[in-house]
Amino acid sequence: MSGRLWGTSAPAKVILLGEHAVVYGQPAASVAIDLRMRCRIRSASISSLNGMPLTAHNYSYVSACLAKHNACPTAVITDSDFPSGSGLGSSAAVTVALLAALARSKGNWDEETVAREAFEVENEVQGRASPIDTSTCTHGHGILIASERSDRLLWEMSCDTRRWCVHDLKVPKMTLVIGFTGRSAPTGPLVAKVKRYVDHSTFAREVIEDIGQMTLEGVKQMAKGDLESLGRTMTRDHKLLAILGVSSPELDKLVSATLPHSYGAKLTGAGGGGSMIALTDRPEKVMEIIRSKGGKPHTAVTDVPGVKNE
Ligand code: PMV
Repeated sequence: MSGRLWGTSAPAKVILLGEHAVVYGQPAASVAIDLRMRCRIRSASISSLNGMPLTAHNYSYVSACLAKHNACPTAVITDSDFPSGSGLGSSAAVTVALLAALARSKGNWDEETVAREAFEVENEVQGRASPIDTSTCTHGHGILIASERSDRLLWEMSCDTRRWCVHDLKVPKMTLVIGFTGRSAPTGPLVAKVKRYVDHSTFAREVIEDIGQMTLEGVKQMAKGDLESLGRTMTRDHKLLAILGVSSPELDKLVSATLPHSYGAKLTGAGGGGSMIALTDRPEKVMEIIRSKGGKPHTAVTDVPGVKNE
């Protein structure tokens, strides 16, 4: 690595349909957005993140990335446009950007290797994960996770009995407004909460399958550019996620307040706080409503690149 700085960046993402169900092998669709996590690394006498030494109890994603690359002591410096725990994939973005920077310092990186290693890190640190966040932060643009391969296949991933075919998703022109509740919620405990429910309840397993079906319908609506139907599907997805217990009063408040001015709205990511998204052609109005309800709005630009050198 020598004394040189190696820099990369990776985008945030929003899940359009299928979060949580995708952990069980169901389909899901996501897009990368115009908020980025920048990462720089250089060799140092001890490993650190933004000047704080790494220990066994902090910054587990960063430590797991360094361990995966058998990296010598490394100073990692990050700078992000979006907060962690916001449901926008900050842990995936830092993991992807750091793995690419480490590979870059040794030669070069390719998307599939970064996506695969990032999924392994997230699965290990989170306890249980799907490849959706890490693949979206790596590839950028749109991602469809499906159980079968199609001609837009990027890569396949598997873990225990689960298998995911990761595809590039063609996303129609549409406006998404993100509303951050201001409350950060880590992903791991929410994934574990859903697992406890799914392990003990046939009803919860049926809800997971219904979310999968709904995602497939939404993907067809997306392909037709039918935003009205897609919006309705997103709102139905939010209701099922609420039944799984991953919504929150803040998320429900932002979703119901934005619905009269949107095609549809839902929580995005792990839930429990974090962010919601509204599909709308009135972004100014929706942003104003989110602000008036105490949320932080951002109108997302989509079709952005994945991880890249800086
Ligand atoms: O909140 P985020 O950005 O970490 O998204 C998590 C998405 C889940 O489906 C809940 C978990 C996963 O690994 O797919």
